[in-house]
Amino acid sequence: MTLIVALDPGPGVEGSRAYEWARRICTEVKPYAAGFKIGLPALLKIGVERLKEVTSSCHAELMIADLKLADIGYIMSLVADELLNMGFNAVIAHAFTGYKDALENLSATLRGRGKLITVAAMSHKGSEEIMDKVVEDLLDVSIRAGAWGVVMPATRPKLIGFGKKRGLTILSPGIGVQGAKPGTALCSGADYEIVGRSITGSPNPGEAARKIVEAQREAMAECRA
Ligand code: XMP
Repeated sequence: MTLIVALDPGPGVEGSRAYEWARRICTEVKPYAAGFKIGLPALLKIGVERLKEVTSSCHAELMIADLKLADIGYIMSLVADELLNMGFNAVIAHAFTGYKDALENLSATLRGRGKLITVAAMSHKGSEEIMDKVVEDLLDVSIRAGAWGVVMPATRPKLIGFGKKRGLTILSPGIGVQGAKPGTALCSGADYEIVGRSITGSPNPGEAARKIVEAQREAMAECRA
């Protein structure tokens, strides 16, 4: 499976509603998803204890904590320990903090317990201002830290090739609301596409996920022909 669903409860989805929202969407889209990506909106709205229930009931192959960590290694390791205790098996961190006293510690904390995923370029336009210009350096740091995967944008699929060349697993957001079509990143070498609002904002998230997976398959059949 090539779809990762971003569970970000939007405006008006708060407290116990956010908890029920996450559990419902998770159940409905699970047949189509390789994993789930859960970030600060869900953590802040649902809270740690109830989010543990969400991660345990969702429990897909990839349960990714997307706090985009960017701190000294000691702090990132403390946070990663908590995230692993919450049922996550992958953690996203920014590559720009560097290796020494930063990603080296996080990587050591995760070793044998969870996957390290770094961010080397982002899907929004502002990524062109700084991150895209140093993408090769950010990938070097990611490799040095032993990252399993890297986030690279479906909105600028040319960048995906840089990560692919280094043998990293590529996870690509930017599909749907941010403009890229399902399959765009997969056709450029990504392993997974991350989709949030196009699925979670639909009145029928399960059907929306099914359609995205179908569109991914069609796009790949075409680009590989
Ligand atoms: P939408 O609703 O736009 O959600 O489909 C996208 C999800 O992906 C996250 N996102 C990113 N995460 N690097 C990341 O690590 C990126 O460049 C990036 N762009 C979007 C976003 O947080 C949301 O959960």
